[in-house]
Amino acid sequence: MKGIILAGGAGTRLYPLTIVTSKQLLPVYDKPMIFYPLSTLMLASIREILIISTPEDTPRIEELLGDGSKFGVELSYAVQAKPEGLAQAFTIGRDFIGDDACAMVLGDNIFYGNGLNHKLMDAREDAENGKATIFGYYVEDPKRFGIMEFEKGEAGERSVKVISVEEKPKQPKSNYAIVGLYFYPKGVSDMADKVTPSARGELEITTLNDMYLQQGILNAQLLGRGYTWMDAGTFDSLQKATDFVSMIEQYQGMTISSPEEIAYHMGWIDDEMLAKSVKRYGKSPYGERLKAVLEGKVII
Ligand code: G1P
Repeated sequence: MKGIILAGGAGTRLYPLTIVTSKQLLPVYDKPMIFYPLSTLMLASIREILIISTPEDTPRIEELLGDGSKFGVELSYAVQAKPEGLAQAFTIGRDFIGDDACAMVLGDNIFYGNGLNHKLMDAREDAENGKATIFGYYVEDPKRFGIMEFEKGEAGERSVKVISVEEKPKQPKSNYAIVGLYFYPKGVSDMADKVTPSARGELEITTLNDMYLQQGILNAQLLGRGYTWMDAGTFDSLQKATDFVSMIEQYQGMTISSPEEIAYHMGWIDDEMLAKSVKRYGKSPYGERLKAVLEGKVII
C-alpha cells in the first residue's frame, strides 16, 4: 500500500501569506500543516509516501521532512508543474504506485478522532481487496466541497452506499462533504488517465470517484460526531484549525498528529532516533512533549 500527499496549489486564498512560502508549511498551532496529513497516512500504516508539490515548494518541503527516516517512513518527492487537478496526482505518481493500492490525502486536510486508525485500516484493507473508499463529513456549506449522496444505512455499519458524487454542486443533494482523503485499489493511475478536464479545466478527483461509483466499487465511510475534519486552506479555517489544535493540546497536554510520536508508538523508530528529534526541536513545546514520549510518560 502506497500513499500520496498532494501539497500543490498556489495557495492564492491565503495571499499574501503564501506568496513566498508553501501553504503546507504554514503553522497549524505548533507544527507545520504537512505534519497532519503525513500523520494521517502513517495511522493507516502506510510507510511508502510520495509528496507532490509545486516546483518552488517541493525543495522546501524536502528540506523539512527529508527522506522520512526520522519518521520511520520512506519519503519521495515529485513535482506538479501546474495545478491541473487532484486526479493528476495518480498519473504523476504512476511509477511510484506501480501495481499497488494507493491512498491520497490533501496537504491541507486535518483529521482528528479516537479510533481514526481503525477506519483507515478498514479503508486500506478494502483498497487492497479491489474497492475504493471515500469519507463523508457533515458540513454547513456543502457548495464548497465535493458532495456525496448516499443511502442511510444501519447505525454502526462499516460503510454506506453512495448514490452520487458531485463537485461543488450549486444544489447539493446532501450536507456530506467528501473529505480530502481517498483510498484506491491497484490500477488507479490507469483510471486517472481516463479523467477529462471539468468545466473549470481541472482533472477532478470527483470525476475519478464517479468512475469507481459507476463500476460499483466505491465505498464510503462516514466520519461522525467523534471526528474532526478541517480543510485549512482559507484564513478562517486555518484560524479555526489552529484554535482547535491549541485547545486539544493544552487541555490534554499531549501532541496530536506528531509523525515522530506515531512512528515511535508503531515501533518504526527507536529511542535513539526519537532522541535526535527531541534534541533538534529543543525547548519548543513540540520538542518538550516529544521528550515526554521518549521518557515513557505518554503511552498511547
Ligand atoms: C477539493 C476537492 C473537493 C473536496 C475538498 C476537500 O476541493 O475538489 O472535492 O471536498 O478538496 O478539502 P478544493 O480544496 O480544491 O476546493
